[in-house]
Amino acid sequence: MKLLVTGATGLLGRSLMRELEGYGRFTVIGTAFTRARAPLTRLDLTDAAAVSEYITAVTPDVIVHTAAERRPDVSQKDPEKTIALNVTATGTLASAARKIGAFFLYMSTDYVFDGTAPPYSPESPVNPLNLYGKSKLGGEKAVWDETPDAAVLRVPILYGEVETLEESPVTMIAKTIMEAAAARSRITIEDWAVRYPTHVDEVARVIREIVLRRAAHPEFNGTFHWSALEPYTKYKMAKAMAPFVGVSEEFISSEDGPPLGAPRPKDSHLDCSLLLSLGFENTVTFAESIEGILKPFLTADRW
Ligand SMILES: NC(=O)c1ccc[n+]([C@@H]2O[C@H](COP(=O)([O-])OP(=O)(O)OC[C@H]3O[C@@H](n4cnc5c(N)ncnc54)[C@H](OP(=O)(O)O)[C@@H]3O)[C@@H](O)[C@H]2O)c1
Repeated sequence: MKLLVTGATGLLGRSLMRELEGYGRFTVIGTAFTRARAPLTRLDLTDAAAVSEYITAVTPDVIVHTAAERRPDVSQKDPEKTIALNVTATGTLASAARKIGAFFLYMSTDYVFDGTAPPYSPESPVNPLNLYGKSKLGGEKAVWDETPDAAVLRVPILYGEVETLEESPVTMIAKTIMEAAAARSRITIEDWAVRYPTHVDEVARVIREIVLRRAAHPEFNGTFHWSALEPYTKYKMAKAMAPFVGVSEEFISSEDGPPLGAPRPKDSHLDCSLLLSLGFENTVTFAESIEGILKPFLTADRW
């Protein structure tokens, strides 16, 4: 089976490439944009003609579309660029997939919900609060406009092996508290929005299992949710990470109330019972995995 991953240089895409290649039974091809290096193909997904030509030439059996503008504050400031990638390019890819009979799996977000009535099942009413959430929901609609025979996988805030601490909002918290402690100043961290930080390696495994399930059951399609089980605010993530980065809790204070910037849902907890009922398992916890992710960024004197 030939699998194509878009966004192969991204936080999730890198993990997904490792997972799919490591499985040993797929031919895996990746595309990316500014960070694309061989063997990845550089393909601007907003170039519709280039995308159609590429998909027709490569003819994958499955396309996993992870590429997106996923930063809510950046999206809010540049709606045109965000919509071109998150909505229009998703429609172009889904259309190209339909034409060659490829199974299309689109990565979406818990930010399609407004966070007022958790937990959310795949059928719960959507009501995104910010441009990013609206654009990802627009991407979902673009998929369903092309074909009902596809999959949408919604996930919450992701963390995993990062190239820089700034790459993920989760590891960015660690950087913030380390800098505050180095300057001997207190830092206030938001304790309002409830999030479910989910490891990209687990999402990658779930995607592989969806692909295999689809291969065994050609009618397997629809919207799915996957999330870690433990609730954390950014403040609680900071407290959990503090010992691993050598920061005393005395430097960290909590702040109630929504964060500044693009509006965020208060609690968009995803109900994953559908995939759990099919035997998919939660195996990774934040408390156990975050230390290994932070370790490469610690200076020797912190150990
Ligand atoms: N990260 C989260 O917390 C989170 C939470 C919920 C849902 N999601 C969803 O999960 C998916 C993966 O997120 P992520 O965190 O892995 O994203 P990411 O790290 O920001 O990676 C984005 C990817 O998109 C590619 N890309 C950007 N513009 C492109 C263009 N014009 N043409 C082609 N490729 C382009 C980037 O390629 P280059 O870097 O090579 O330019 C990169 O590979 C996204 O669909 C996102 O909406 C993420």
